[in-house]
Amino acid sequence: YRGAQGYLPDTLDLLSLETAARGCRGCDLFKAAEQTVFGAGPADARLMLVGEQPGNDEDLEGEPFVGPAGRLLDKALAAAGVERDTVYVTNAVKHFRFDRAAGGKRRIHKKPSGGQITACRPWLVAELDVVRPDVVVCLGVTAARALVEKNFKLTVHRGEVLQLDEEFRGTLDPKVVATIHPSAALRAHVDRDAAFDSLVRDLHRAAGLL
Ligand code: URA
Ligand code: SF4
Repeated sequence: YRGAQGYLPDTLDLLSLETAARGCRGCDLFKAAEQTVFGAGPADARLMLVGEQPGNDEDLEGEPFVGPAGRLLDKALAAAGVERDTVYVTNAVKHFRFDRAAGGKRRIHKKPSGGQITACRPWLVAELDVVRPDVVVCLGVTAARALVEKNFKLTVHRGEVLQLDEEFRGTLDPKVVATIHPSAALRAHVDRDAAFDSLVRDLHRAAGLL
């Protein structure tokens, strides 16, 4: 597997990209997953949100952020005064990576590897090139590692106004903000209300940069 680059279409628009991404075999993740989950939203969106990878529900439905994390994201966007319809929403990796518990049917989310994040990045860079957002929000460390810096630490740089890695900047230089992944506010051992409020605060701050 040589990464997604060789699967990019000649015409760069969202429909051509999404269609081409359905046939991507840039890494091994296409094999076990049901389908490619491409980004969704208006091509002229000024704000782009980047998650990690589709989850179980997204893999079945073919749309980003439609499962539990997506419902929480919708609530957080509403609380931050951002209309989801105006935002372009995508993921760093376009196929669901999972493990199956021994003998079980349930598919358990597994973090994408560095190699898989790099392999899938051409799709994300192409989405950035087409949408040309003014502000990008990295939802979780995976997106920030794909776009800002390979060793990005959320605990250090969360909420700061950052730039894309030089490699992807070119004529495109959106402001970048990294925050927690919505699913981090669904975990049992955290103060969920505080985590949710902090996500809303970061989204509100990012929207304020527009
Ligand atoms: N988590 C993500 O990072 N992206 C999705 O689309 C769903 C869950
Ligand atoms: Fe291609 Fe990305 Fe899917 Fe890998 S995860 S097969 S690079 S679309």
